[in-house]
Amino acid sequence: MSGIISIEGGVPLQGRIRVEGAKNACLPIMAASLLCAGEVTLREIPALEDVFNMCKVLEALGAKTKYDAAQKKLIINSEGPLQTEAPYELVRKMRASFLVIGPLLARIGRARVSLPGGCAIGIRPIDLHLKGLKAMGAEVIIGHGFIETVSNRLCGERIYLDFPSVGATENIMMAAALAEGITVIENAAEEPEVVDLARFINSMGGRVSGAGTDTIRIHGVSSLNCTDYTIIPDRIEAGTFMLSAAITGGEVTVENVIPTHLTPLLAKLREAGCQVVEEEGLIHISRTGPIRAVDIKTLPYPGFPTDLQSPMMALLTYAKGTSVITETVFENRFMHVDELRRMGAQIKIESNCAVVSGREKLYGAPVKATDLRAGAALVLAGLAAQGRTDVSAIYHIDRGYSNFTEKLASLGAKIKRIEQPW
Ligand code: UD1
Repeated sequence: MSGIISIEGGVPLQGRIRVEGAKNACLPIMAASLLCAGEVTLREIPALEDVFNMCKVLEALGAKTKYDAAQKKLIINSEGPLQTEAPYELVRKMRASFLVIGPLLARIGRARVSLPGGCAIGIRPIDLHLKGLKAMGAEVIIGHGFIETVSNRLCGERIYLDFPSVGATENIMMAAALAEGITVIENAAEEPEVVDLARFINSMGGRVSGAGTDTIRIHGVSSLNCTDYTIIPDRIEAGTFMLSAAITGGEVTVENVIPTHLTPLLAKLREAGCQVVEEEGLIHISRTGPIRAVDIKTLPYPGFPTDLQSPMMALLTYAKGTSVITETVFENRFMHVDELRRMGAQIKIESNCAVVSGREKLYGAPVKATDLRAGAALVLAGLAAQGRTDVSAIYHIDRGYSNFTEKLASLGAKIKRIEQPW
């Protein structure tokens, strides 16, 4: 079943909205549940396609999963016996399934995972994941579209990452949690989701310190215990709702947020002329004046998040003046540009920079989501456009936003989802 999201633009959004648990925290934490030979309870788990897909991956590996949508609670039992192979059919749908390789290797000494296919937003290699696992003593065999890793005894090591990759930091941290001795990850990713994974491992009795800085130390333990853990709020979903208020000139309170996780976005929203008030667990955002042009450069945390680059670009297509957006994290993350142009946006691409000349108006058009955040950006552009925008290929949006249309409609947007049986 696929469908479209249809939007009649021009309504300033008003009201309050509660943010869900973070997709990018819960996927690695679900994988890390494999480290515990028992039951793990996870709370604030959003009803997302990526979460359901990760459940299937865990089931294929021999774990049992039970999701309670009303309570947003997921129980994972990895008592075993566990299988070593994550099937291609599941892995190809979601790159994050590659995160099971670290915990499987640590728990049962072997993991066979199909190579994550090329992803729409770039080449996204896995060399840093493998460099870390090899340094800890794993043998890595690549062939026939699969990566197989084997080790009877993972040992702690000093591992320097050439780039602070989120996934590599997480995979290595999970493998190291049950390794012998101390692993030090240098130039580690500092993202809040990495910190959440470290806290989860520690809640099972692990010994991880330094998460949230560029040096993480993991003191391996012999086994990990059952735990009950609540996932952090989704800073990208929160940012998307803030941008939806900004783009429509509305007034929205976003609840269940950790404002410090959103520092770069809040700074840029203020520069762009929005009023932003932070409180404990809340952010109020409104805009009455025009949108001002601002320059953006995506960077690893605490820099501006690449996942908000396309929604921010949607806002800047309506700005007074010219904005320069530089993407430094992924090499092919401007695919939304052609679709925004179809709505009348004026954007020039030069290498990894997009030069956005703001327009007073964009016009509704049929457009296509090319990836998750690009899909969100098109919905935002449509919320402020004159006339009707139909966004197709919305399965991309379902991967990372639950009840997106319902939530925007609750803020007053004229938006609906139309299912199509093809
Ligand atoms: C995670 C997030 C994704 C976010 C990204 C950057 C999840 C499930 N996804 O993706 O939403 O956009 O962080 O914040 O958490 N790289 C290498 N070699 C490697 C690994 C990565 O060169 O072994 C490169 C990638 O090609 C990319 C850059 O590093 O250019 C960042 O990738 P990484 O931080 O690993 O992103 P993901 O963990 O895939």
